Amino acid sequence: PETGCLSIVVLGASGDLAKKKTFPALFNLYRQGFLHPDEVHIFGYARTKISDEELRNRIRGYLANDKSSPQQLEDLTKFLQLIKYISGSYDSEEGFKSLDKEIATHEISKNSAEGSSRRLFYLALPPSVYPSVCRMIKKCCMNKSDLGGWTRIVVEKPFGKDLESAEKLSTEIGKLFEEPEIYRIDHYLGKELVQNLLVLRFANRLFLPLWNRDNIDNVQIVFREDFGTEGRGGYFDEYGIIRDIIQNHLLQVFCLVAMEKPVSLKPEHIRDEKVKVLQSVMPIKDEEVVLGQYEGYRDDPTVPDHSNTPTFATVILHIHNERWEGVPFILKAGKALNSRKAEIRVQFKDVPGDIFKCKKQGRNEFVIRLQPSEAMYMKLTVKQPGLEMSTVQSELDLSYRQRYQGVTIPEAYERLILDTIRGDQQHFVRRDELKAAWEIFTPLLHRIDDGEFKPISYQPGSRGPMEADELLERAGYVQTHGYIWIPPTL
Ligand code: BG6
Repeated sequence: PETGCLSIVVLGASGDLAKKKTFPALFNLYRQGFLHPDEVHIFGYARTKISDEELRNRIRGYLANDKSSPQQLEDLTKFLQLIKYISGSYDSEEGFKSLDKEIATHEISKNSAEGSSRRLFYLALPPSVYPSVCRMIKKCCMNKSDLGGWTRIVVEKPFGKDLESAEKLSTEIGKLFEEPEIYRIDHYLGKELVQNLLVLRFANRLFLPLWNRDNIDNVQIVFREDFGTEGRGGYFDEYGIIRDIIQNHLLQVFCLVAMEKPVSLKPEHIRDEKVKVLQSVMPIKDEEVVLGQYEGYRDDPTVPDHSNTPTFATVILHIHNERWEGVPFILKAGKALNSRKAEIRVQFKDVPGDIFKCKKQGRNEFVIRLQPSEAMYMKLTVKQPGLEMSTVQSELDLSYRQRYQGVTIPEAYERLILDTIRGDQQHFVRRDELKAAWEIFTPLLHRIDDGEFKPISYQPGSRGPMEADELLERAGYVQTHGYIWIPPTL
């Protein structure tokens, strides 16, 4: 691994994302020994004029999860000492020059003669300031060491609002930074079971011949949350559920489920395949979309009274290629529903020439539960144990909590930040991938923005609009009755 001074700059240091995700991920990396105090320094940058100590106090409460552990408290104190705060605006050289000076001072104090300098800029900021911040970094804060190293930037969605604005943003940033320097985060790519998809699909002989239109009837990729847009109504209303969840998180999962086998595990080979499958997606049809908005959403004072923004959507995608022609991929996401979970359901076709005629058999279904309670299970039909010759649905179950006892599954952000330090772009979104993703959804999004496509109202705490279940049924999904999988408890 590379050595030498590593400066991590969190821009937007006092914002929500930084507090809730970025700093906690850095703290966990620190605790596990991935950020070494001899090499690392962390800088918070934002507009508010506060002291180092004030920033530390603001984030402290988000970091340690076990306050009774003396070890953790000691780690916390040491970690906070690594953080320095610099205030400045996002579009003036003054602030960025003083940031550069601080970084340089730290580099001189920590660098041994053979060390290179690594500078990581994490933009925990609204995208409207990305271009100016990138310009400032480029102008004032690039790594200048003769001994090597790098400068990298990490950006968060939303990357634009539609194809045009996303391309504009990409072009502006692209003028300043090369693609290998840009890390577009989609935190779903950091989740354990999402990272497992590639292994599962391509390292198991069992799945290879089954994973296609001959055997699979339909695929569902589902995200549900049991709370609304509390506290984020202002942001959310501008974007809606398709831009917030489907166009990025679910579409990334979709790519990994549907793409062809990459030539190798090299990041570029994997991303090439993702782009290809995205480019094979056919235009979305109106009759294969159901939008919803939960009752009470507009009561949020930051949401306009006549908002047309969907908080729920089911959208069916079709892939025009040899493997998937005719197989619906159902992408579904909703806020304020009856449960919180994210999962992939691969539903197989009925058994041809079924001889167990007395009862219609449930279908085989392979379910990958991303969260909570990570698991994979395969629904099977088996003989009902006992004297009778009757059938029943059961499952082969790989529940992580049970199978991997004592193993802590890392947070998505932890892994992804570590990847940015190591220079591994496999789990980041490439520019052409982003463009292809926007191409799929932009026509639909424009119609929603123009008020031509209206969401159906649904009760908070429900399954979402009934019409979405009807659409699912039309698409061929067969619900299993009288059987549910219950995550095992230890
Ligand atoms: C974010 C969305 O990207 O993902 C949020 O903006 C959503 O609206 C969140 O709640 C869900 O992430 P996770 O990891 O909790 O599934």
